[in-house]
Amino acid sequence: GLSRDILCLFVCELFDVSVPLGVLAQENLPGDQFARGSSYIAASYVKYLEGAGARVVPIRINRTEEEYANIFNSINGLLLPGGDVDLQKSQFSRAARIFYRLALKANDGGDHFPIWGTCQGFQQLSVITAHKNLLTLTDTKAVALPLTLTPAALSSRVFRGFPKDLLQSLIEKNITSNFHSWSLSVQNFSRNAKLKRFYKVLSTNSDGKKEFISTMEAYRYPFYAVQWHPEKSSFEWIDKPGMIHSTAAVAVCFYTASFFVSEAMKNQHHFSSAAEEERALIYNFSPVYRGADAIFVQNYYFD
Ligand SMILES: *[C@@H]1O[C@H](CO)[C@@H](O)[C@H](O)[C@H]1NC(C)=O
Ligand SMILES: *[C@@H]1O[C@H](CO)[C@@H](O)[C@H](O)[C@H]1NC(C)=O
Ligand SMILES: *[C@@H]1O[C@H](CO)[C@@H](O)[C@H](O)[C@H]1NC(C)=O
Repeated sequence: GLSRDILCLFVCELFDVSVPLGVLAQENLPGDQFARGSSYIAASYVKYLEGAGARVVPIRINRTEEEYANIFNSINGLLLPGGDVDLQKSQFSRAARIFYRLALKANDGGDHFPIWGTCQGFQQLSVITAHKNLLTLTDTKAVALPLTLTPAALSSRVFRGFPKDLLQSLIEKNITSNFHSWSLSVQNFSRNAKLKRFYKVLSTNSDGKKEFISTMEAYRYPFYAVQWHPEKSSFEWIDKPGMIHSTAAVAVCFYTASFFVSEAMKNQHHFSSAAEEERALIYNFSPVYRGADAIFVQNYYFD
């Protein structure tokens, strides 16, 4: 609300507070020869948020609800990254559900806590909100697409701050990287009352046969989801169709991350001390280089 924004104007600007954002780890990819331990975070998601002025707290899977509640009260927002885990049975999905519920409750009480889902994160949010998996297979692995913006997009929270020429590029040029086998079709979305009530559709795309939702934001919550990969344009280098490193694509990477960080600045969650924050930050871990042509060029691994 307005008063919170005004408070933040003073608190956030005057005291130059750190904005620690959580990124959720997930079970290692099967057969990952570089894996150390049982879970990972692709470093591109860390760089993505760091590039917009935030610091990152890795959130490990398989922790207690109590531990997650403590982390929730210490961070200013949560990013659910791409990947390849079971959206109903994995430890990733369990932690995502716990944070989603905490965020619903916080926001209902006027505590503005944002969640951003990218690719698998988008899909995970849809599964949690719908209480079931409504995804369908599409031919969208390694393809760059232009967004078909809905009329609601221009006044949406995500896009309204974008420079006009950048929105034009998003509409006209194939600059959004799609690396997914599963999609939320417009048909299934429209037939599901829970999803329809919860999310405003900002963009759609098609694989030539099925139309699917590519960007959405919740009506009443600061929850955002993109089926495409803004972070890949700046931070991944696999040599595949669908990878776009143009100036416009890199700008979209920055503007989406910067928007999310600005949302995170609207709450006052914080660690109990600077020392506790330092112990929680990603700087305590080192990324592993997986080769220039790996799907993720660097990963952080966790036990
Ligand atoms: C989760 O943690 C428990 C003990 O805390 C352990 O027994 C179990 O193997 C762990 N599961 C995974 C998937 O790491
Ligand atoms: C709709 O969802 C079901 C799962 O509930 C899935 O099997 C089906 O393929 C989906 N259909 C479309 C058109 O998305
Ligand atoms: C750009 O995306 C459109 C789909 O909107 C597709 O038909 C076209 O083939 C794509 N062009 C390139 C160069 O990938």
